[in-house]
Amino acid sequence: MPAIAVLGAQWGDEGKGKISHLVSENADYSVRFNGGTNAGHTVFVGNSANGKNGHEKSKNGNEFKFHLIPSGALHPGCAGVLGNGMVLEPFSLAKEIKELEDALGKDAKIFISERAHLILPYHPILEGIEGSKSELDTTAKGIGPAYQDKVARRGLRAVDLLNPTQFLAKLQRNLDQLKGLYPHSKPLADLDAQKIAREILTASERFRDKITNTTALLHKALKADQQLVFEGAQACLLDIDFGTYPYVTSSHATIGGIGVGAGVPPNRIQRVIGVAKAFTSRVGSGPFPTEDLGEMGQRLRGTGANPWDEFGTTTGRPRRCGWLDLVALKYAADINGFTELALVKLDILSELGELKVATAYELDGEILDYFPSHCDVLARCKPVYETLPSWSESLRDCRSLSKLPKNAKNYVKFIEQVLDVPVTILSVGRAFEETISAR
Ligand code: IMP
Repeated sequence: MPAIAVLGAQWGDEGKGKISHLVSENADYSVRFNGGTNAGHTVFVGNSANGKNGHEKSKNGNEFKFHLIPSGALHPGCAGVLGNGMVLEPFSLAKEIKELEDALGKDAKIFISERAHLILPYHPILEGIEGSKSELDTTAKGIGPAYQDKVARRGLRAVDLLNPTQFLAKLQRNLDQLKGLYPHSKPLADLDAQKIAREILTASERFRDKITNTTALLHKALKADQQLVFEGAQACLLDIDFGTYPYVTSSHATIGGIGVGAGVPPNRIQRVIGVAKAFTSRVGSGPFPTEDLGEMGQRLRGTGANPWDEFGTTTGRPRRCGWLDLVALKYAADINGFTELALVKLDILSELGELKVATAYELDGEILDYFPSHCDVLARCKPVYETLPSWSESLRDCRSLSKLPKNAKNYVKFIEQVLDVPVTILSVGRAFEETISAR
């Protein structure tokens, strides 16, 4: 069975949850390998069941919001794996497992890497003290400080939850150090290691039996020809190395993240699906060449009345919006080796008159056809646009390529030609069914 990776191709929020859920229909394992509760994957599920896993309806309008658990785990026959590259906040994890079990009506098949690091109550506080929250406009979930602890080799890992005495000792050591480092922080002073340890160990009772060696599990699954789907969180331009540093997250959101964050090498992955919106959005600070601060940006964002509008799943923040940037997307295709593209939210471009697409940047009178590595340079780049006509029809009811209006087909073809990557999935609405398979 080919292993599949589903990766964000822009600045996140591309709708990876829906695509990952869709392609895990016959999967045995759906695997997260990076990030933590900074991610928010919404899956809106109907009741058509084609694959072996089938679907079950949720009680609350078929909508599921995941932050830690990979979207494929919503299929009753697909296990969810939380890889070593993730950072796990124990209370959120316990809550999400409960919600999933309520939705499935049975025990969730979840496996948590022993090596995954934990987000502890002092990590979000450190974001406030160290300024990343305000300077980088992070999600304030403690992601950066948790990865800092990992690299500094003082982090607590999931496996530490299995030894309560050691867990408390390591927590006490870290907290004492922090209180010494930041003696004026009242939120830190208020933290008590014994109390935190007690609460976390109690919360972790829900998932302690799921903590295991997930790398061994995944390699056994590969040997048994079982199907794995890797679900990236965040996206290429938020990757710690390849993103718009320092306005990035602290993990590897690109294909290499699967190697370091799940222990499965890239040559075991046959399909690499980049997920891109038919336009561009980003949250948080940092340069964004095709951002539209005017009326078109607002039209692309929507008003927030619709859950599909451009407001964050995790934080509710309005997203910055603008035209499709093919310079950035080509870069993401190169870095990740996309074998195909899932183009989502094509329906939003109906009735917009003219559509602009950036195919190059202009920098100080020179044309750049590659994505610069330095943020300050990117901030000075001006997009060079090609203009394509929009279409007046709604796409929401289209279920095949042949039903798409001619101009929508041409828009898709244009993207394929510039990127040299085929578009194999088109999403024309938020529901699972509002999808066109172009394979
Ligand atoms: P952090 O991951 O909370 O440290 O935030 C770092 C940057 O990544 C900020 O600009 C966030 O807005 C952005 N970010 C983190 N997770 C997501 C996501 O899932 N979607 C979009 N942006 C994200």
